[in-house]
Amino acid sequence: MKTYTKSNELLERELKVSPLAAQTFSKSYRYFCKGISPAYIDHAKGCRVYDVDGNEFIDFICALGPITVGYNDDRINTAVKEQLDKGASFSLQSPIEVELAEKICRIIPCAEMVRFVKNGGDATTAAIRLARAYTGKEMVLMSGYHGMHDWSIGASNNNKGVPQAVCNLTKNFIYNDLTDIEEKLNTYKDKVAAVILEPIQADGPKEGYLQTLKDLVHKHNAILIFDEVVSGFRYALGGASELYKVTPDLAAFGKGMGNGYAISAVAGKKELMRQIETGVFISTTFGGDALSMAAALATIKVLEQPGFYDSIWKLGNKMHTGLKQLATKYGLEKVITVSGLAPHCGLSFDGTGSLSYLDIHSVYSQVMIENGILVFAICNLNGAHTEKEIDLYLDATEKAFALIKKAIEQDSLTGILKGGKVDPVFKRNIR
Ligand SMILES: Cc1ncc(COP(=O)(O)O)c(C=O)c1O
Repeated sequence: MKTYTKSNELLERELKVSPLAAQTFSKSYRYFCKGISPAYIDHAKGCRVYDVDGNEFIDFICALGPITVGYNDDRINTAVKEQLDKGASFSLQSPIEVELAEKICRIIPCAEMVRFVKNGGDATTAAIRLARAYTGKEMVLMSGYHGMHDWSIGASNNNKGVPQAVCNLTKNFIYNDLTDIEEKLNTYKDKVAAVILEPIQADGPKEGYLQTLKDLVHKHNAILIFDEVVSGFRYALGGASELYKVTPDLAAFGKGMGNGYAISAVAGKKELMRQIETGVFISTTFGGDALSMAAALATIKVLEQPGFYDSIWKLGNKMHTGLKQLATKYGLEKVITVSGLAPHCGLSFDGTGSLSYLDIHSVYSQVMIENGILVFAICNLNGAHTEKEIDLYLDATEKAFALIKKAIEQDSLTGILKGGKVDPVFKRNIR
């Protein structure tokens, strides 16, 4: 039986000095069953992580997306160590920056020029600023999550602390619904600078959606921005724009490009990007950090290898099919939805009877952890996962589904939950 003594001790210490005991909301202990789940990882290799108590897990979170090749990969470590011997940050540019910029411009369809920053939110914010400067307009229409900056979080339910005037400048639109975006472009006619979206959400774009969206956005003299922070480097080397053959004006990348090293980028058309030379302020001290750039170059080299993405899609499809079969086998279709495209697929939960969606999720999370699988709900795959890990994931899921069925039949969690419940920092609307 797994124990979490060190994790629990560290958690109690950190809760006194760091809000939520996490630097990233989605890594908070609250996303797992408290007391019976790990809270701190000591080290990782490939697709396995080892917590501070010595427990081993197969990881399907991949650090919330950044791990594309695999944790602690020797090829990437070697590249980073070589750069480390030269230094990490300098008073002028390092040559590696030229190499990476040229590489990005070769592999990303919209990239005529690129600017490197650190987090995904830096990149999306840079794209919005470029679009506003270029069009001379201020409003933004968005679909998806784009980071913590005022312009985007202001339009969410989590907008405490964002000035109302800023909130008013961004409106949400519904993904895969052309009528909705067209109505919004008409409602805010001549005011919209940019339309930004995660190009792959849920089960992906409907046939023709992205191209028609692009045409509409351009008809309204606005800039189309793909937020590829999740989709970039995960579904295909050139992201969603390669996959669906629709090239936006600008795109933002982050997460998967450095296999866990902190690097992100805004890329796009020259006429937009060149505004950085004439007064659009996009600049960070660590934008040219050479260690992350070495990691990104080495990561891309692995991702470029023939068959890399075929394998990720194959494994993801096996996972998706297996999940669907299990949901049917246990008669859970009403409380468990399988969604997502292969490289980023998984589950969402609904409540039933007196059980809430979080009750159902808690049973799932408990069983997965007990069986050595670290997962939230939607999985990310990396280059180190194989059929064996997918089989182990599906075996654990079957056990979880059996216990969920039991909980539903008895309409309570009595005798089922052994620790705390999953309690996300941000809760979705209860269904
Ligand atoms: C689609 C998308 N865009 C932007 C961001 C923000 O990235 P970061 O947290 O690195 O700032 C995220 C983070 O989850 C994301 O999922």
